[in-house]
Amino acid sequence: MKTLKRIAILTGGGDCPGLNAVIRSIAKPAMAYFGATVIGIEDGFEGLVEGRHRDLSYRDVSGILHLGGTILGTSNKGDPFHFPVVTPSGIEVQDCSSRAIDHYNDLNLDALFAIGGDGTMHIVDKFSDMGLNFIGVPKTIDNDLASTDVTFGYDSALSVATEAIDRLQTTASAHHRVMVVEVMGRYAGWIALGAGLAGGADVILIPEIPFHWNKVFEFVQERSRRGGRFSIVCVAEGAKPADGDIVVKEKDVRRTDPVRLGGIGELVGKKITEATGLETRVTVLGHLQRGGSPTPYDRILATKYGSMALQLATEGKFGYMVSLRGTDVIGVPVKQAIMKLRTVPPDSQLVLAARAVGTSFGD
Ligand code: F6P
Repeated sequence: MKTLKRIAILTGGGDCPGLNAVIRSIAKPAMAYFGATVIGIEDGFEGLVEGRHRDLSYRDVSGILHLGGTILGTSNKGDPFHFPVVTPSGIEVQDCSSRAIDHYNDLNLDALFAIGGDGTMHIVDKFSDMGLNFIGVPKTIDNDLASTDVTFGYDSALSVATEAIDRLQTTASAHHRVMVVEVMGRYAGWIALGAGLAGGADVILIPEIPFHWNKVFEFVQERSRRGGRFSIVCVAEGAKPADGDIVVKEKDVRRTDPVRLGGIGELVGKKITEATGLETRVTVLGHLQRGGSPTPYDRILATKYGSMALQLATEGKFGYMVSLRGTDVIGVPVKQAIMKLRTVPPDSQLVLAARAVGTSFGD
């Protein structure tokens, strides 16, 4: 077992509930058992490129288990290999990985723990190939990382989205309206499927099952004809019609993923009203799904992830990511995790169960 004397932690990409729980569960044992110096890199990889960091004390990492966000800050514009640099002719994306490596070397680290999603794991993989001692910890509300059953943050987002649907059910029923709720998830439908199922949505639209407009219109109209005088339509931001494309809110070259999704909910609401004459309202949950306290499940998962990440470092398993398999947390090569996005299998039990209780996927 390798003794760890100097370690660093960073949180990259979009935040999600549970990041602080991981920071705590890496830092506390590292300080208590190894007397290690724990350095917090500020604002993800942006801070590693720019050399922004601070030493963390035991006090800094105490009392943060239940806090959302991240005490270290994060950024989804800090990919060192595609780093946005302000030049006289505007913003240019440059390879600044050597600056990040210099700062990593200056810190004289035994290990650097990068807590992040898909984008972060790609960077971890590149630096690991270059011989740096990185360990990955998978987070994201989208739950779209391969090689792990669940990412922490997903359960918290699911509970926010489910509560929102519960609330929409009562007002929808009172006014006999169609309520469309747009949830996050990027190119995966896990949040829409999970919250739609838990909240009893009548229609669930996800990227993995392209939908047909007519099927959606007929379904809500039929419900209304049969006396179900309201409908809940849960739409993933990445859902797309079979004859169309995803709806993009904006593109920003500085982001690790330049595409920002959003807008499909409004489109679905507008089209339903036009086609059926039913009164429709649209709710976009947006960042409410990422804010606030982690659920107990996410606190526990994040704590297990953090402590396994530390163990992997003591075993010298760099280039590895922690992963949940069944009920066990193990280490897997990060390369495996980035080979493809984990999307919803259209024939998964979750989809079949939803169909069995009468949910339409618009297909
Ligand atoms: O990846 C997490 C996520 O919340 C996605 O679900 C969403 O598409 C994206 O981040 C939003 O990014 P931003 O916070 O930059 O708007």
